[in-house]
Amino acid sequence: MVRRTILITGGAGFIGSHVVRRFVNGYPEYDIINCDKLTYAGNLENLKDVESRGNYFFEKVDIVDKPAVAALFEKYKIDGVIHLAAESHVDRSITSPETFIYTNIIGTVNLLNVALAHWKDSFDGKLFYHISTDEVFGSLGQDGLFTESSPYDPRSPYSASKASSDHLVRAYWHTYGLPVVVTNCSNNYGPNQFPEKLIPLAINNIKNNKPVPIYGKGDNVRDWLYVEDHAEAIDIIFHRGKSGSTYNIGGNNEWKNIDLIRLLCRVMDEKLGRQPGTSEKLITFVTDRPGHDKRYAIDSTKLQVTTGWKPIPDFRKGLEKTVDWYLANTEWLENIVSGEYEKYYESMYGNR
Ligand code: NAD
Ligand code: DAU
Repeated sequence: MVRRTILITGGAGFIGSHVVRRFVNGYPEYDIINCDKLTYAGNLENLKDVESRGNYFFEKVDIVDKPAVAALFEKYKIDGVIHLAAESHVDRSITSPETFIYTNIIGTVNLLNVALAHWKDSFDGKLFYHISTDEVFGSLGQDGLFTESSPYDPRSPYSASKASSDHLVRAYWHTYGLPVVVTNCSNNYGPNQFPEKLIPLAINNIKNNKPVPIYGKGDNVRDWLYVEDHAEAIDIIFHRGKSGSTYNIGGNNEWKNIDLIRLLCRVMDEKLGRQPGTSEKLITFVTDRPGHDKRYAIDSTKLQVTTGWKPIPDFRKGLEKTVDWYLANTEWLENIVSGEYEKYYESMYGNR
């Protein structure tokens, strides 16, 4: 049995909490250290079910604070990093790009430098796994898919900051030999996603009979992946990925925003016992996001062929599971949809 001490950054966020849960439950022989600043997007409620487990440790640390990151490595003798901590919402990056530069770029460099300093005598059994996004590749036209060799062409401050961090991670592999893996994933959905993102925002608004804002004409396309499928891919790649490699992760599941929201409206009508067509009346077209990328779609053949990983094939089922979770966890949602979020929502959508 191999013992490991793994630092998961951003573990209190949406994807991070699913990754922490999977590792804490699946690998009792590992110590899992969740390091999170607990920004507006970090919520320890997401991890209530694992917080008392003996192999789980939480540390409230800002990755921009290098001495604090170094102290974590010193305290726990970290030998693996799964780096998810980031500012993740494109709209927020348009109104306040600076935080994205600090957390996504400087924070990543801090982690790289501290890992390098601690591991430099032997890279054996060490891994720095950087979680990134398909948005670094820019926007696709009608056809084609992003592959691992697609050129970088980020268009928003968020994707530019993630692209920068990806380049830095790869530079540490080439320059210093730091063992790294990078994955670029498509849009995730599922339980615990903060309701600023399209699907949970729409679920919350439909539930409360509020307008569902669709940017532009609603013809932008995203490739949706159930969050637990992403966590499974991360588990597989952490254990079997080739050092220095990049893997694309995607749902093979492209939807125009408007078609996705119409499907969601039908699911919500059923779940809430409303007349068919009721929720669709809430759809409201609003001013488009500046620089809105038209289409993302991922080719994950490399991951599928080398590891056998596959996303769930039934999107409607995944969407229903997600809706069920949000309807069953009203307290979670209501705790979030107050205070700071209320102000953010007002500034985003209030005067449209
Ligand atoms: P999220 O916004 O839900 O969670 C981010 C977490 O990082 C939060 O818990 C937050 O408190 C923490 N954090 C933010 N700044 C920090 C800092 N300075 N120090 C320590 N912790 C900090 O994000 P998510 O959607 O779960 O995304 C996680 C990662 O996956 C990100 O790196 C994102 O770029 C990437 N990603 C997300 C998606 C998606 O669809 N959500 C798809 C592909 C890749
Ligand atoms: O592709 C991966 C990326 O997916 C991740 O890297 C990001 O962290 C994550 O936020 C997500 O980015 P998007 O910008 O694609 O996700 P978002 O949920 O914000 O928007 C999805 C689509 O829906 C996008 O085309 C914009 C549109 N949209 C979004 C919101 C919030 C609307 O039409 N109305 C809305 O209110």
